[in-house]
Amino acid sequence: MTKKTGSVEIKKGIYWVGGIDPELKEFHGYLTQRGSTYNAYLIVDEKVVLVDTVKVHLYDEMISRIKTVIDPAKIDYIVSNHTEMDHSGSLPDIIDSLRTNKADSPTIITSPNGKKGLKKHFHDTDWKFKVVNTGDSINIGKRNLQFILTQMVHWPDSMVTYVPEDKLLLSNDAFGQHIASDERYDDELDENIVKEEATKYYANIVMPYGMQVSKALDAVGGLEIDMIAPSHGVIWRKGIKDIIDLYKRWSADFTEGKAVIVYDTMWGSTEKIARTIEAGLEQKGIPAEIFSLKDTHISDIMTHVLTAKYICVGSPTLNNNMMSGVAAFLTYLKGLSPKNRIGIAFGSYGWGGQSIGQIEDMMSSCGFNMTYSAKVQWVPDKMELEKIKNKIKNI
Ligand code: FEO
Repeated sequence: MTKKTGSVEIKKGIYWVGGIDPELKEFHGYLTQRGSTYNAYLIVDEKVVLVDTVKVHLYDEMISRIKTVIDPAKIDYIVSNHTEMDHSGSLPDIIDSLRTNKADSPTIITSPNGKKGLKKHFHDTDWKFKVVNTGDSINIGKRNLQFILTQMVHWPDSMVTYVPEDKLLLSNDAFGQHIASDERYDDELDENIVKEEATKYYANIVMPYGMQVSKALDAVGGLEIDMIAPSHGVIWRKGIKDIIDLYKRWSADFTEGKAVIVYDTMWGSTEKIARTIEAGLEQKGIPAEIFSLKDTHISDIMTHVLTAKYICVGSPTLNNNMMSGVAAFLTYLKGLSPKNRIGIAFGSYGWGGQSIGQIEDMMSSCGFNMTYSAKVQWVPDKMELEKIKNKIKNI
């Protein structure tokens, strides 16, 4: 993509001044095939406020966008909703470039954990901080900025900023999507792509924190909102109700009566079992999605795991273990902590056959209710496959 330059006025006097990162293809284990953005917002009032910054390599891009609106030296406050470096990485550069002496530097507004986190990230700073808690607000002229701590959505320091006069929620990581685009609003892109990326984002980043998301949704539930401006991807102005409803369902660990089958295979035997489980589930009326780890990345599979009631995982035994790709998937799955799931383990083996028990143990440690395991030596014959199918139909 060719990046448009300049800022975008999203509300009168409030501008998107972020960075676009189409080259980003991986985000600590999460494939970001569509890239991402780091959204910073500039509020020009009697006081000038920058809300969040960008990854450090996009600092110049952010500054050049700010300069289309105002001299960056006029910034009075920088709100740091979240210390993770994709949002705080440019703080040292912007503070150093703005101040001629300490008294001139902008004040960083952040949560108690945000202050601790920023000091541990950037070390020995003499930055000026204003620490805020839920319910605190500051007046910046015609507007007030209200702060709501949203701990663990996605880090202990996370908070959101609400501008009541503009009905604008600056939600940081919450409601984000990893999409690099010149378009700034959800209704300017294909609705299916935005929903797909919002789902993948929740599944891979937010899923472990359902309880905290529910609390955060309660905290913002009483606010009048006509725009949600997250720190990744596009701004929600059309699909606000839809994305909030989805977050409510996901954070309540809502599942559909569908299955996800994930496997690796050496000589096709475990794949045959996977296909048989798929057929058994379909005959039982349970739609199943099947993924080979050879051609689907674990972060893409998680998009489907998010709402699947049945999780089926298979591996042959290789050197007394499950295959490494299956182990990686299960480790990733355990970290994301999907809840209220039914598990099925399966696999083929030549001798030993340890992989199936290892998968069972790992899925049990995820808290899954393990209902059935299919274990077949060498190549499964018709009778063995029929037996597996019947077992599946009767679970
Ligand atoms: Fe987009 Fe948790 O950082």
